[in-house]
Amino acid sequence: MDIRIEKTQCPKEKPDSSSLGFGKIFTDHMFMMDFSREEGWHDARIVPFGRLSLHPASTVLHYGSEIFEGLKAYRRADGKVQLFRPIENIRRMNNSAERLCLPQIPEEDAFKILTTFVRTEQDWTPSAPGTSLYLRPFMFGNDETLGVHAVHNATFVIIASPVGSYYKEGINPVKIMIEDADVRAVRGGTGYAKCGGNYAASNRAGERAEKKGYSQVLWLDGVERKYIEEVGAMNVMFKINGEIVTPALTGSILPGITRKSCIEVLRKSGYTVTERLLSVDELDAAMKNGTLEEAWGCGTAAVVSPIGELCYKDVKYTINEGKIGEVTQKLYDTLTGIQWGRIEDTFGWTCLID
Ligand code: PLP
Ligand code: COI
Repeated sequence: MDIRIEKTQCPKEKPDSSSLGFGKIFTDHMFMMDFSREEGWHDARIVPFGRLSLHPASTVLHYGSEIFEGLKAYRRADGKVQLFRPIENIRRMNNSAERLCLPQIPEEDAFKILTTFVRTEQDWTPSAPGTSLYLRPFMFGNDETLGVHAVHNATFVIIASPVGSYYKEGINPVKIMIEDADVRAVRGGTGYAKCGGNYAASNRAGERAEKKGYSQVLWLDGVERKYIEEVGAMNVMFKINGEIVTPALTGSILPGITRKSCIEVLRKSGYTVTERLLSVDELDAAMKNGTLEEAWGCGTAAVVSPIGELCYKDVKYTINEGKIGEVTQKLYDTLTGIQWGRIEDTFGWTCLID
């Protein structure tokens, strides 16, 4: 696969890394590649960052044919830049593509695209503590017709954004509201795929939660509204009476790469982690009788995010006195230590951009 590179004539000023926030600033270039049934993937190119032009009948605008990924490039102390488990994102993107009837990208091609793009933009990787270069690959269907069918034409794009923490709280505990009216996804639906529609359907509950002072909602399963699923932009883990529990991947939850990594780190450190169905009644009882010792979310953007308060049916429960718990802190330190290259990666997860 050849990638044409067209450099910008007007490079932008790099931002001050103390005021980044999340996803507001974008780098100088973006990657783009087109797909048609006749030609397959073609015209791979890195071009100056800019607007996209779409036909008003384009499939994505009407029927939501869109998938995306999220991963980060981290600046190590020696100045080099590394990715964290990029092959996992590539595989999940292809699974999402399969579910949405979008074209898949061969793994080796996707890896070459990603690393070539990061190499081009690597100077944008900030170095302040907790900052990184967030990479957002996305793909959408763009047939120029209103018929409803699997797409024949698609575009794949990668943009990059230097970021700080996702939540304004940073590593401080966030407040989460358990949602018992709207649902995010059902088994057989698209919950396990990373597609834009899942997030569009989440916004109403998210907005209600924000108005009440919560960062995001914790979803219950879409059939019985009984089992804990995940939070808006992260998977969840709980320490209940010494047991670390995380909802099993039943098909309606995003199989998070951070979730998978947390489970492996915890197990290697000697903790027992159980992936199982966890009912909201069990969680509610644990909150009431004080056996819910810690709760945290995990995701690429959210990293490891302690949950200091959960609200269920308008009753507020404070967890671990609203402070970060011991396991959460240890997990945060280990995972971020590997991601930023501060501690040895004995798992073989990091991928150096040379
Ligand atoms: N669940 C949802 C709904 C998400 O948006 C994310 C973020 O990507 C995650 C979980 C965590 O996934 P990952 O750890 O792969 O970023
Ligand atoms: C990520 O963590 O990469 C995500 O995609 C979450 C996002 C919705 C901000």
